[in-house]
Amino acid sequence: MVHKFDPARMGSLTSERRQQAVKPLDLLQRAGLQAGDRVLDLGCGAGFFTVPAARLVGPQGNVTAVDVQAAMVAATQDRTHQEGLSNVVVLAAGEYALPPGLPAFDWIILAYVLHEVAEPGRLLELALKALKPDGRLLLIEWPKEDGPHGPPAHERLAPEELAAFYQPLNLQEVNFWEGGPEYYALVLTRRDSL
Ligand SMILES: C[S@@+](CC[C@H](N)C(=O)[O-])C[C@H]1O[C@@H](n2cnc3c(N)ncnc32)[C@H](O)[C@@H]1O
Repeated sequence: MVHKFDPARMGSLTSERRQQAVKPLDLLQRAGLQAGDRVLDLGCGAGFFTVPAARLVGPQGNVTAVDVQAAMVAATQDRTHQEGLSNVVVLAAGEYALPPGLPAFDWIILAYVLHEVAEPGRLLELALKALKPDGRLLLIEWPKEDGPHGPPAHERLAPEELAAFYQPLNLQEVNFWEGGPEYYALVLTRRDSL
């Protein structure tokens, strides 16, 4: 059984504790986001990755942030407005449906989202339709161990469980690293783009 993150606990998504533990700007830089890139933050929550992504890609790039929960869309809209970011659009998504009319993206970020859907492969397939031919997917998930923060281990997805979803989609790993107890990160691209 998968659970969506409860918007009533939204504060924990943007807490100082989490900023220090994950360091989202450093993580996105290490993944390879660059000035001018077009980014889709799929499952943006309260904008934890949306804001640093918008700063990294700068005025020549842009970030589209989407979420299936209306409260999360509103929170990211408020946050990006407060931060004065003019290169971000925040939109509502369906469970396996992106808003119509999106451009193709250089990067699609799925951060702590795939363990919240019943069919991760289906969401990855949807994301691929919005990715440029040589674009990259950045997947960020909890290590599959119980800890003081995050969902219980049985709700988490180990890297090899993710591989079972992305390998049939012709996706290949280009980077992987572990960020301690809070995350592991995986950068993927289409096999034929390498
Ligand atoms: C644990 S939160 C993480 C939010 C954000 N990525 C972060 O790291 O702070 C997961 C988010 O994914 C969203 N989500 C879950 N399934 C989704 C789907 N099928 N399409 C879009 N968003 C989804 C949830 O509503 C929630 O806001």
